[in-house]
Amino acid sequence: MESSRRNFFLSLPALAALPASWTAFSTALRAASSTPDSEAYWSLVKRQFPLSDDLIYLNAANVCPASRPVLDRHAEFMRDFQSNPSFQNRAKYEAMRERLRDKLARMLRVTSDEIAITRNTSEGTNIVVKGVDLKPGDEVLITDHNHPSNNDSWKVRAQREGFTVSSLTVRVPAASREELISQIEKAVTPRTRVIAVTHVTSTTGIMYPAREIAEIARRRGIWMHLDGAQSFAALDVNLKEIGCDSYSASAHKWLMGPLEAGVLFVRSDRIASVWPSIVTAGWTDHLKGARKLEVYGQRDDPRIVALESAVDFTLLIGMNAIESRMRFLATSLKEQLSQIPGVRLKTNLEPELSGGVVKADISRVPTKQAYDSLWNEHRISIAMTPSGDSQGLRFSPHIYNSRQEIQRTVDAVKALAS
Ligand SMILES: Cc1ncc(COP(=O)(O)O)c(C=O)c1O
Repeated sequence: MESSRRNFFLSLPALAALPASWTAFSTALRAASSTPDSEAYWSLVKRQFPLSDDLIYLNAANVCPASRPVLDRHAEFMRDFQSNPSFQNRAKYEAMRERLRDKLARMLRVTSDEIAITRNTSEGTNIVVKGVDLKPGDEVLITDHNHPSNNDSWKVRAQREGFTVSSLTVRVPAASREELISQIEKAVTPRTRVIAVTHVTSTTGIMYPAREIAEIARRRGIWMHLDGAQSFAALDVNLKEIGCDSYSASAHKWLMGPLEAGVLFVRSDRIASVWPSIVTAGWTDHLKGARKLEVYGQRDDPRIVALESAVDFTLLIGMNAIESRMRFLATSLKEQLSQIPGVRLKTNLEPELSGGVVKADISRVPTKQAYDSLWNEHRISIAMTPSGDSQGLRFSPHIYNSRQEIQRTVDAVKALAS
């Protein structure tokens, strides 16, 4: 990733073609005397986001704001498209789509033929859910902390086609990596055809040992699907090392990209065995690699440019630096919340068992009341689960958050819990 960062300025189109906000940001970053371990550096990054000053936005796990350089480039190409929708003007998007595919592939350490450009994680996962061959008697293994797109989707298909879906109950917080691995291994039967898990859960933020689970699956010829909604562009994900069969993610979460854009990876030796969910003009079984999974009729071409810009923005800062900063903020929040009497942290503290999603419960205050109070009294935007084993307040900080915002959030929770 670091070498990608060094090559960044070479891989972008001529700087003159970029909006002023891009040029200003990249020039400021290069001129900055501070480095990614200083607050001054991150406040320069924060200033690129059009977030309201009075808002503490801690909901990256749901939707992230796009930075001004990305928004400006998106707007520029929307204007270009609408001012001249001719085939001739739009022809350039084909090359842009391939350049984007290449960048996404490099980011995830796979090949561009293994990448489909989708509309979000849900769609990518559903392409796999609908596309793999399964018959009555087969079994799909999921967990009860999977998102509905990787949980109910399997159950709906199973109802129609008569295979079985077995759901594992996730312990909160996780006891250890070994327990997560052995729970899966013990649940596998000779009938298991798919293991579908979540890289980092949105419920309580557990990070699954994806490589070890992929290894269990691979030894037995089982398909391993990984939901990457909470890991893509939050963590430096290396899919080659993980070895899963498929991985799906959204651009509007940690990548800070456009809404309704996503990525689906299917490993090269598995692509031929996935049936496309949508077949329309432009589709043929001879499309190279995963491209056959992204033909949905007319697509929003300027969004491709916005998605590429979001990847470029990420590479400009560096994926390692982004993951470190995000982890620094999440860890600081977890450590401080866990010290507050009456607050129960539901997310693991260990970095190998967690990412950027933080869940905590205040014992004396109903979750909805605490959620409303954080918003109404402090303008702190988070998510929450009102009941069940993952009940609690969900905080998900990202690179546009400051240490001071984390401190103000901790103080607000402290006041509520006292
Ligand atoms: C783990 C997980 N998977 C899938 C999704 C669905 O993402 P999208 O709505 O972008 O398809 C989410 C959304 O929060 C999620 O947290």
